[in-house]
Amino acid sequence: MKDTGQYLEGIRTELGHAQAAERRNGGPPGATPRPLIELQHVYLAFDQPVLVDLSMAVYEGETLLVLGESGQGKSTILKLILRLLAPDAGTVSIFGHEITHLSFEEVLEFRRKIGMVFQNAALFDSLTVFDNVAYPLRENTDLSEREIARVVREKLEFVDLDPERDMAKLPAELSGGMRKRVGVARAIATDPEVILYDEPTAGLDPLAVQTITDLIKKLQREKGVTSVLVTHDLRAGFRVASRVNLLREGHIVFRGTPEEMVASNDPYVRAFLNAS
Ligand SMILES: Nc1ncnc2c1ncn2[C@@H]1O[C@H](COP(=O)(O)OP(=O)(O)O)[C@@H](O)[C@H]1O
Ligand SMILES: [Mg+2]
Repeated sequence: MKDTGQYLEGIRTELGHAQAAERRNGGPPGATPRPLIELQHVYLAFDQPVLVDLSMAVYEGETLLVLGESGQGKSTILKLILRLLAPDAGTVSIFGHEITHLSFEEVLEFRRKIGMVFQNAALFDSLTVFDNVAYPLRENTDLSEREIARVVREKLEFVDLDPERDMAKLPAELSGGMRKRVGVARAIATDPEVILYDEPTAGLDPLAVQTITDLIKKLQREKGVTSVLVTHDLRAGFRVASRVNLLREGHIVFRGTPEEMVASNDPYVRAFLNAS
């Protein structure tokens, strides 16, 4: 049994220090009433219903943390935003456009504005670090190889990798934390306005978790990107989140700041926090 009082106290302390000021400055919606990403009354079933009347909004410049137990549909939400899946009912809007009925070409066009950091980094194993990061630039832009080389170096430096040392390596030669950083460099190669992270810290040691959460914060602060972070790692999530949505049984059962979540008296929220 974990000492939940002490545990929550620890989270409160962490929140109190680093994040509060940052959130007040750059955080939640406030002046921007219009969401950049909006899911409204979404239904989606595979064999079983997964999303049931799910509504959620992501506002410009914020980092929205989507929490939920395993299998609740967190990755499915990201796939809907990328239009890798379409809802059975309801709407998904991005940048003010309803994407449910877009053509294939239109989908490719808006996907360029969204970077995705996949679970397990999902690098191409047979490609070097350089070619992994260059991939979206070669696929989605008209940049020359010379310009691509410049951008790849810049992005590797942004994620604190050393281009000279690491560029020619294959993913198998890297640590888990470095692979994740290459995944982030690839996701930001085309300077997307939105970045989606699926369990970016899963399986990493504490130091690598810290590096990735610092990187997410740096992208929010320096590039003003809007992010959706899906994880069941509460501590890592709370370090970067402006707001939290908690997913359960197909829809959002809690919306608020990390502080509000920790202070919530809702029995399921309490149980979720204590079990995490
Ligand atoms: N392509 C698919 N076909 C069938 N079932 C799926 C598919 N993708 C996800 N599911 C099911 O949908 C539910 C939600 O999955 P997922 O979004 O991956 O959950 P989470 O990311 O929260 O762990 C799970 O029960 C999963 O088994
Ligand atoms: Mg998942």
